[in-house]
Parts: sequence; structure tokens; C-alpha cells
Amino acid sequence: MRCCVCPGSYDPLTVGHLDVIERARTLCDEVVVAIMDNPDKKGMFTIEERTAMLRSAVGERTGVRVAAFEGRLLVQVCQEVRAEAIVKGLRGGGDMAYELAMALMNRHLTGIETLFVPGDPGLAHVSSSLVKAVNAYGGDVSGLVPDAVREVLVARRGPARD
Ligand code: PNS
Repeated sequence: MRCCVCPGSYDPLTVGHLDVIERARTLCDEVVVAIMDNPDKKGMFTIEERTAMLRSAVGERTGVRVAAFEGRLLVQVCQEVRAEAIVKGLRGGGDMAYELAMALMNRHLTGIETLFVPGDPGLAHVSSSLVKAVNAYGGDVSGLVPDAVREVLVARRGPARD
């Protein structure tokens, strides 16, 4: 039984995240989608909201479990769920620079390996932060996030700007 962790802040979940989760599932019997703290990011959604969005998008998919792990290191979560690897998507060189240091640090801490899956090139422009920025000014984020997430984003947008 191979288990991996797909970690992230998922603030909010995008279709790019879902693509990586699905591809991780082709590699492992169980994928734990771990909603984690990223102290460098000020979240728009609470951990509970992110968890609900992910659970609704992932549904009852066999072998995929969504859980929030606050106040812990990713390597501690991996030990807790007995994951053999961390799986992350790479959209391009910018992601690599950011991800490589974390992958090396995680391996330094416990020996756990990080597997990188190349992101779908058609989704290379999709990130949670850009989705939030586009939505904040009234832009249409359809197709970038699941419909249920788009509805929450639009509801949070606030009054339209003149
Ligand atoms: O979606 P993100 O924000 O790029 O994901 C980054 C995340 C949450 C995976 C990373 O910040 C993380 O692992 N946070 C948990 C705390 C931790 O282990 N920090 C040390 C990382 S080497």
C-alpha cells in the first residue's frame, strides 16, 4: 500500500491542484491531501473553509483523503500518515526554485523524498494568488477553480468597483 501526501495551502483550491492530486493517485494507492500552514501567506479562507472546498471537489474518490494539519511540519504529517513520498506539481522554473529548497529540507529532516509531476501546460498560469487577484477586481475565474469555489470567491468579492 503506497501512500503519498499532496501538501499545500489550497487558499483556494484550483483546477491545477486537482490535476496534481489526480496524477498523484495514479502513482499511489492512497493520497492524503494535506492542508497546511504557510507562514509566508496570509490566507483568505479559514482552514475549515479550505477543507470543505477540497472535500466537495474531491468527493468520494477512492484512495483520496482530505485533512487539515495545522501547527505541524510537513515531515511530521508524513510520518503520522505513514506516507512514503510527497507529491507536488511544477508549473515552471519559478516553482522549481521555490520547491527544491523545501524538498531538500524535508529530505534532510527525515529522508522523505519529494516527487515532482510536471503541471499541465494549459494550466501554467493558474495559481491561487492570481485567481484571488483576478477575482478581487471583478474578473471571471470560471474554469480556473471548481464552480463551487468560484461562487464563494464571487460572494467574497465585495461591492463592485466603479
Ligand atoms: O501551497 P503552498 O503554500 O505553496 O504550500 C507550501 C506548504 C504549505 C506545503 C509549506 O509551506 C509547508 O510544508 N508548510 C508546513 C510547515 C513546514 O513543514 N515548513 C517547512 C517546509 S521545508
